[in-house]
Order: sequence, then C-alpha cells, then structure tokens
Amino acid sequence: MADEKNNEKNKAEEKAPRRKRRTKPRVTQDEIITIENVTKTYQTGSPALNGISLHIKRGEFVFIVGDSGSGKSTLIKLLLRELEPTSGNITVMGYNLGRIRHRQIPKFRRKLGIVFQDFRLLKDRNVYENVAFAQRVVQTPPGKIRNNVTAMLSLVGLAPKYKNKVTQLSGGEQQRVALARALVNKPDILLADEPTGNLDPGNSWEIMKLMEQINERGTTVIVVTHNREIVNSMRKRVVTMNQGVIVEDMEEGIYRDDD
Ligand SMILES: Nc1ncnc2c1ncn2[C@@H]1O[C@H](COP(=O)(O)OP(=O)(O)OP(=O)(O)O)[C@@H](O)[C@H]1O
Ligand SMILES: [Mg+2]
Repeated sequence: MADEKNNEKNKAEEKAPRRKRRTKPRVTQDEIITIENVTKTYQTGSPALNGISLHIKRGEFVFIVGDSGSGKSTLIKLLLRELEPTSGNITVMGYNLGRIRHRQIPKFRRKLGIVFQDFRLLKDRNVYENVAFAQRVVQTPPGKIRNNVTAMLSLVGLAPKYKNKVTQLSGGEQQRVALARALVNKPDILLADEPTGNLDPGNSWEIMKLMEQINERGTTVIVVTHNREIVNSMRKRVVTMNQGVIVEDMEEGIYRDDD
C-alpha cells in the first residue's frame, strides 16, 4: 500500500517537471539548427527560399552549394536573424528565431562566428586590433584578451604578423584574420558565406583546412561555396540548393555538376 502511494507520488512529481520542459524549444539536444518549412519572399519577385527544411546536428560540417541565386546567402542571413522568414520556423542553438526578443539578439549573435567573401576587416587597424576588437565588443576582461587573441592568431598562422596593417596582407592572410576574429569569442557555430570566393586555390585550401580543424575542435561549421574541387575532396555533408529548394542532402557528398 505504502509503496503504491509512493509510486503515485513519484509519478506526480515526475509529471510536473515534464510539463514544464515542454515550454522549451522542440529540438533534440544534439540538434543545433532546425529549419522547418521556411519560405522567404523578398518584396520583389518570387520566393528566394520555398518551403525548405534542414536539420543540423551539433558538431557537423556542412557545405551548402548551388547555382547563383539559388538562395544560399538568404539561408545564411536567416540563420543570423539578419532576415526573418515569410513563413516557417527556425531554431538556432535553442533560440526560436521567430520569438527571440530584440534585446536577446546581440547575445544570440555572440555565439555565432561569421565569415564573408569580402573579409570585412577594419582597414585602418592592425591584425591584432581586428581580432581584439571582437573581444572588446563582448567585454572580455583586458587580461584575457591578449591571451585569447594571441592563441587565435597562432591557430591561423599569423602570430608573426600581428602588428601589420590588414591592408598590408595578402587576400589569404586577410581571410585568416577574419577567421580568427570570427572564432576568438568561441562561437558554437561558424557560418561562412563563400569564404574562399576571393582567394586563389592554395589559399582557398588553407582556409578550408582551418575550418575543418575548427570543426574538429567541436564548432559546428556551415560553409557556402562554389568551390567544386574542395567540396569533392573533403567528403563532408553537402546540401545542394536550386531555385530556393534543397534538391539534395548527402553525407560525404559531392558537388554535382548540372552544367
Ligand atoms: N535584398 C534582396 N531583395 C530582393 N531580392 C533579393 C535580395 N537578396 C537576394 N534576392 C534574390 O533572392 C534570390 C536568392 O538570392 P541569394 O543571394 O540567396 O542567392 P545565392 O544562392 O547566395 O547566390 P550567389 O551564389 O550568387 O551568392 C535571388 O533571386 C536574388 O535575386
Ligand atoms: Mg550568395
């Protein structure tokens, strides 16, 4: 009898927290990005994204490929919450982006590292300052900044050039600074939109290998690229887009040649 009562009590206790938990985002613990049936229509024209769904697990490395205009950058901007979808749901790192409050957005973005094709560095500052800047924005204690920046510049192989103005660097070096800046705050996700778009093949490989290394240290990495050769060699997950829809999603995929 007493046992039965206890059982019932235990059941009741079990139920209460379970009910609470349901208010949290509906994502499995290892899913870091959930895109459900997302459409994005710009004010002009037809949908840039048309009902796409995509699930990315923590720790994955994913290439996003597809023709120009297929919606890759639109997808990246939605993940950054730079744009909002016309319909559908996006959850990133547990944040439901349709419900996120404006004051939460900076905190959300701090957990994202972002790299673009055109580097977007502070041209009048040196290498060190460009990376340290990202740490100051998030109010890292000054004592820690030097260690973190130095470690990150070593990782990308630029420690000896820390005093150089970024305008005195090659394109490949500039992109490595951008990568160091994106990573210095230890983001959960690195989003890169054509990070090798302005680089020669040698530098492109270096940047991709660095991103692979970063992924191996636990960061989820999503890379938009047109670089067929690299995609085909690296054997990662490849999501192929065409006219606003995902037409293929393959583990150890390749860059399919539709031309
Ligand atoms: N700000 C905007 N206003 C209106 N239409 C836009 C805007 N940005 C993108 N588009 C349109 O949305 C579609 C998808 O564009 P998006 O930039 O996402 O393509 P992409 O796959 O990144 O292309 P690329 O490989 O050339 O960078 C295109 O038809 C584009 O013209
Ligand atoms: Mg683009």
